[in-house]
Amino acid sequence: MPYDCESDAANILENLNCAHIGSVVVFLPEIDSTNNLVKTYLANGADEGLVVVAESQTGGRGRMGRAWHSPPEVGVYLSVLLKPPIEPDHLPHFTLLAGVAAVLTVNEFSHPPASLKWPNDVLIHGKKVCGLLCELTQNQGEPSGLIIGIGFNVNHLPDQFPEDLKNTATSLRVINSCQTDRLAVIRSFLMNLDHEYQIYLKEGPRPMIEKWGLNTDLFGKKVAITRGPDITTGTAMRLDESGRLVLRRDDGHEETFDSGEVTLRMST
Ligand code: BTN
Repeated sequence: MPYDCESDAANILENLNCAHIGSVVVFLPEIDSTNNLVKTYLANGADEGLVVVAESQTGGRGRMGRAWHSPPEVGVYLSVLLKPPIEPDHLPHFTLLAGVAAVLTVNEFSHPPASLKWPNDVLIHGKKVCGLLCELTQNQGEPSGLIIGIGFNVNHLPDQFPEDLKNTATSLRVINSCQTDRLAVIRSFLMNLDHEYQIYLKEGPRPMIEKWGLNTDLFGKKVAITRGPDITTGTAMRLDESGRLVLRRDDGHEETFDSGEVTLRMST
């Protein structure tokens, strides 16, 4: 069923119980990218808590310059504006925090538990059900806002994924063999994000880093981490206190990573 933009925005607004998120909720039938629109609202003085949801995106953006497949009626595509007191090097905290909120949401709708792949992909049975793109905007060198963009694969049938995603993407419908109410997913994510954000503002990153560790099956697995042309192999061990991934390299030394693409390697 397509969104009824006006009444769905009102419905979300009425049923949110959030301290920071949902000051304004905008639903649109189509946009290039919800992250781009939030950036424009921010430049025009938008307050913390703005939420933009789109039925479809013509230029949905993913991490590492990739596109995010955003067809109408099956996915959730939304962006949230936060304005935390943030140093640019705290961006990884928010990337992980949004991942925690996302995995908690997916677990409300999926029986096989989802697992986080660093930094914030949400996987079920090793396939991606949700991805996050967090962007920090700056004004004259000072952080001015944090945009958390998230895409959930909700009601896609297997043949609704493009050929190049068929082996790596899944949806709640594929997992549960039934449809899920997209508004319920939106509400859940916004409330989980708000809750984790409140804890972060009060207590700092430690609780969130612990929760991240409880919601991943990555630790102890053999992985390859790709950064540009460099590929490092080893065993994923834990997150450090800054949220960096600690790898025990195959040569036995530990190395920490603050960015990169993690791929699981088959154990031999
Ligand atoms: C990734 O896993 O590569 C991140 C995907 C992020 C997609 C979402 S959909 C809503 C928001 N708007 C965008 O253009 N991207 C994010």
